[in-house]
Amino acid sequence: MNIAVIGAGNMGAGLARLFASSGHQVVIGARQPEKAAALAAEIGSQVQGGGIAAAVKLADIVVLALPYGAAAEALKEAGDLSGKVVVDISNPLKPDFSGLVIGHTTSAAEEIQALVGKAVVVKAFNTVFAQLLPREARAARPLQVFVAADDAAAKAKVTELAASAGFEPVDAGPLGNARYLEPIGMMNIAFGYFLGRGPTVAPAWASF
Ligand SMILES: NC(=O)c1ccc[n+]([C@@H]2O[C@H](COP(=O)([O-])OP(=O)(O)OC[C@H]3O[C@@H](n4cnc5c(N)ncnc54)[C@H](OP(=O)(O)O)[C@@H]3O)[C@@H](O)[C@H]2O)c1
Repeated sequence: MNIAVIGAGNMGAGLARLFASSGHQVVIGARQPEKAAALAAEIGSQVQGGGIAAAVKLADIVVLALPYGAAAEALKEAGDLSGKVVVDISNPLKPDFSGLVIGHTTSAAEEIQALVGKAVVVKAFNTVFAQLLPREARAARPLQVFVAADDAAAKAKVTELAASAGFEPVDAGPLGNARYLEPIGMMNIAFGYFLGRGPTVAPAWASF
């Protein structure tokens, strides 16, 4: 798959490295193109890096590895997104991590869908800490990725992408279920950082 990872922070770097090592063509886009280029050079394996619009142009799947509050500005820079799959991985946190800035009647994913017009948004990866992106960090057991989307083909693509990177994708229903996935991401942060479990915890859905 041709994947643009927008953002070169913890998640952007981790996902770019993971997807490249899983056999995908990866291009990193950042507001500071030199940062993306340096990260791409560090990862190697033919990863490219530069500006946001240039990265988006080369990709079918665009992963927004940005704070939710930065999505609108970055999407303005992104250019034409028609026909692309946009993956929203965000937990729309308050700046002091005390909660979420939106929820109940909407979600970050739905708000991003409203911004991207003819692109299709898929919610995924928001419950996976950056520390668990490397395959070796999750070798002990399968790690679930909840995938929510309204478009079946887009959901299938992101499901395939997650599986190719060694995750256990879980169909989480329509995009509106991001209203529930985002609070689960927040609870995971609470377990990881405020309740003493550390950032290698992750939620899992099980049948008994
Ligand atoms: N970290 C985790 O474990 C984790 C887990 C699940 C989901 N998430 C979600 O993943 C997303 C990224 O988190 P992160 O931990 O990777 O954050 P991060 O390390 O702080 O990186 C954020 C990236 O966003 C870029 N950025 C910020 N404002 C921007 C703007 N206005 N326009 C363009 N780029 C902008 C930053 O660029 P500069 O370098 O130029 O500042 C940086 O590359 C968040 O939505 C978060 O909720 C994180």
